[in-house]
Parts: sequence; structure tokens; C-alpha cells
Amino acid sequence: MFERTKIGPYIIVLAIVWTLLVSLSLGWNFVQSQRGIVELAKAEARGVYNKDLVYRRWAAGHGGVYVPATEETPPSPFLAHVDERDIISPSGRDLTLVNPAYMTRQVHELARAQYGLRGHITSLNPLRPENAPDSWEADSLTAFEQGVVEVSSVEEMGSESCLRFMRPMITEARCLKCHAEQGYKPGDIRGGISVAVPLAPYKAVAVRHVAGLAIGHGALWILGLTGLCCGASHVRERVRQRDRAEHELREVEKALEDQRRQQQRLESIGTLAGGVAHEINNPVNGVMNYAQLIIDKTDDADVRIRELAGEIVNETERVALIVRNLLQFARQSNQQHQSPARMADITTATLSLIQTVMRHDQIQLQINVPEDLPTVKCRSQQIQQVLMNLMTNARDALNERYPEYHENKTMSVVAREIEEDGTNWLRTTVEDHGTGISQEVCDHLFEPFYTTKPDKSGTGLGLSISHGIVKDHGGRLTVESEVGKYTRFHMDLPVR
Ligand code: HEC
Repeated sequence: MFERTKIGPYIIVLAIVWTLLVSLSLGWNFVQSQRGIVELAKAEARGVYNKDLVYRRWAAGHGGVYVPATEETPPSPFLAHVDERDIISPSGRDLTLVNPAYMTRQVHELARAQYGLRGHITSLNPLRPENAPDSWEADSLTAFEQGVVEVSSVEEMGSESCLRFMRPMITEARCLKCHAEQGYKPGDIRGGISVAVPLAPYKAVAVRHVAGLAIGHGALWILGLTGLCCGASHVRERVRQRDRAEHELREVEKALEDQRRQQQRLESIGTLAGGVAHEINNPVNGVMNYAQLIIDKTDDADVRIRELAGEIVNETERVALIVRNLLQFARQSNQQHQSPARMADITTATLSLIQTVMRHDQIQLQINVPEDLPTVKCRSQQIQQVLMNLMTNARDALNERYPEYHENKTMSVVAREIEEDGTNWLRTTVEDHGTGISQEVCDHLFEPFYTTKPDKSGTGLGLSISHGIVKDHGGRLTVESEVGKYTRFHMDLPVR
């Protein structure tokens, strides 16, 4: 039937683009929040480191501090060379000197136990062997020696992932008190402090954040798709309407084309018939004249011959009638001028001709043609011929259905003014309740030589001539019928 404009693929492409956009945004947000975690952890690490440094500086500023010597804090073997490493307070308590690195180590141990923070003071050349760096710290320390001032990265430490952060410790003059022995000069990289911040708490926050984002994006995505679907169905409906309109237009064009072709066919048949009729006319007249001659020249005694010749004349007259009709059909624009006429007068004239026949057939006539209807400009003789033709057809149909008298054996002729297609028409309708006409027959009814009457009573020209006459008047002749019920012929003539 009619081809649909496909919009499905466009919608799918749009849906894919939308999905990509939303996923891209979600992905970007996810990456941003991961980056945020690292930045936050780094900030914390830096803070922790700074605090370490400050305490260290404080301790170093004092050249180390004295604390009570206990099992956890025994006198440092590395300070054995320092005078007054161990002293006794006036009240008799044992005090020992704690160097800054010692303090830092102990503080780191506390922090680790309490907060999970890991700090480590280390050096590539450790005084205390246990202070040796791990591989990450060793790499960082080497980097510091090349001039790098800060190293940080996310590393797996045991089972947890941590942000590792490290800065160098530069040898100062006051450090030399205890580290000069190792050969350090001020400005040398003595070592460094590394801090590790577990990422788990930050990740927990980030997961909540990302979950929120995901829900938001999901809602947005569904909203977009819904909008897309609504739009699509709207567009689809519009397209359907357009297709339907186009389809109807094509139908109308086809109907017009059919009508034009039918018209052309009638015209060409008319031309052909006219030509043939013209040719036949002369020989027919000849035959008729010769038959008449036979009658005239034969003795009265020869009755048989005169009878047969009479038959020839009758039959030839019939041929002549057909030929005349044909000629009329062929050149319908007659010589007669069109002049205003009243349908009532035309009807009366027609009735005067066929009333007797109708009465004989016991057909009841119902005539309703008001005198005050507008006049029509026409060749009244021809219109009368049409009306006669229609009424004769109706009569035949009634006689076929009811050979004898019947109360339904009625024919009506009604005239009235109607408005259709923007024109005022005078419509004269001839209606009978006879045999009716099938649709198939209706289609050919106005073609010349088309007849449904089995015997020789019709020439098959009547309706085609009537059709031509009415058309010639700018009017139209139409039929509606139902088999076994009724037949209605409408003769519409324009009111001018
Ligand atoms: C009172 C003596 C003393 C002073 C002052 C001192 N340190 Fe130390 N430092 C030590 C001792 C002893 C160790 C090794 C034992 C330990 O870990 O407690 C050490 C260890 C270190 C370590 C760890 C690596 C290693 O060698 O074991 C670094 C790094 C360090 N010191 C840097 C410094 C810097 C920098 C200064 C100056 C700001 C400084 N120290 C001042 C005594 C001192």
C-alpha cells in the first residue's frame, strides 16, 4: 500500500547518542571524584608531615630532650658517645636523652596504633640499621638527590591502598652534633620522612558521592529517553497523517483519470458510430425505395409479395430510425438554439405523448414538477427526448416486474432545485420500483449499443444519446439503483 517513512533508525541513533553523553558525563564525574580522593589524601599527608617536622624541629632545637628511661624508651645506643646521655634527677630518677629521630619514631608508632597513619623516618645511609628505607622510599630518596622536593603516589601497602607522601630532610648545622661523624655537611640530603594515608575512608565518601551521581544520571537518562519516545510517536503520527493524505490524493487522481478515459471512449465510439451511420443511410434509403416500388408496381392480386415488401419497408424503417439516432448521438450539439424553458412545460409535453401507453400498461404516474421552479436554458426538444427515454425505460422495468396490474406499479417524476459542488441544479428524478439494475450494468449503462433488453425492442442507443444530450447542456445524468427494489435516474441541468 503506502510506503512508511522510517524514523525508527533516527530515534535509535539519538537514543545511543544520549546514552553515550550520559555515560560520558558519569564517567567524567567518576574520574574527577577519584582524583579528588587522591588530592584530599595528599593534603592530609602534607599536614601530617608538617606536624612531624614541627615537633622534630622543636626537639632538635633543644638538642634532644630528656625523658625517664624505661623499657619502651631505653637509652639510645647511638648516643653512647654523647656526654650526659644518661643523667639522674635530684630526686633520683634515671633520665635519658632522646634525639629527634628517636622521638619521631616513637610518635609514628603511636600514630600507627591509634589512627592507622604510617610515618617513617629513613635514610639511604641510616645510623640505625632498622631505619633503612623500603624500595619506594629508596627511589624517592634517590630522586631527592636529583633535586625533587616532594614525591607522592597511590601504592598498595599490604592489603590496603594508601597515598604515600615523602619529603627530604636537609642537614643543618645543628644536626652535625650527632651526624657529623657520618660525613654530612649542611645542605646534604640527610634522609626523609614518609607518610602513608589509607584511602579507604575517602573511598567510602567517594562511593556515596558517585552513587548519588549515578542515580541522578539514571533519572536524567530515563527522562531523556521518555522525551525521545514521546517525540518519536508525535513525529510518527504526523508522518502517518501525511502518508494518508498523499494516498487519498492519489485515489482522487486515479478516479479522475478513469473518468477522463471513460469520456474519451464514449467520444471515440460516437465518432465511429456517426461515420458508420452516415455510410449506411444511403443504401438503407435505397432499399426502402425499392421495397416501396415493389408495393406500388405489384398487382393487388399478388398479396403475398406486397406483404413481404411491406415487411421490408417496416424493417428498413427500423434501421433508418437506428441510423438517425446514431447520427444524433454522434453530433449532439444540434442546430437548435438553447432558450429558457420550464421543466413543467417539458414534462407536460412528454406526458401528452406517452400517457396513453402508461394507462394501457396500468402504471400509476406521480408527477411533481412545480411550475414556479427556475427555468433552464436548453434545447427543450432534446430534453423532452431524454425525459421520454427515461420514462420509457422505467415503463419497461415495471412491465417486466409486474406484467399485470399491481398497486406498486408506480412511476414518479419529481423536479426540484438542489445545490451541489457550488452550483445550483434543477434535478429531475424519474423513479420506478421495477426490476432494478445491478452495479455491473450501471457501469456500462451510458455506453452506446449497450442493452439489457433481450428482444429487438431497444437499439441500445437511448441512454447513451440521453447522456450525450444532458452533457451537452452542461448537465449530468446519473443513476442509482438496487436490484429488485428501485431505479432512480437524476437529470441535473444547471440553473443560470
Ligand atoms: C642529639 C643527637 C642528634 C641530633 C641533634 C640529630 N640527630 Fe638525627 N639521629 C640521631 C640518632 C642517634 C639517630 C639514629 C637512632 C634513632 O633512630 O633514634 C638519628 C637518626 C636520624 C635519621 C634517621 C636515619 C638514620 O640515620 O638512622 C635522620 C633522617 C636524622 N637523624 C636526621 C637528622 C637531622 C636532619 C637533624 C638536624 C635537624 C638531626 N638528625 C639531628 C641523633 C641526632
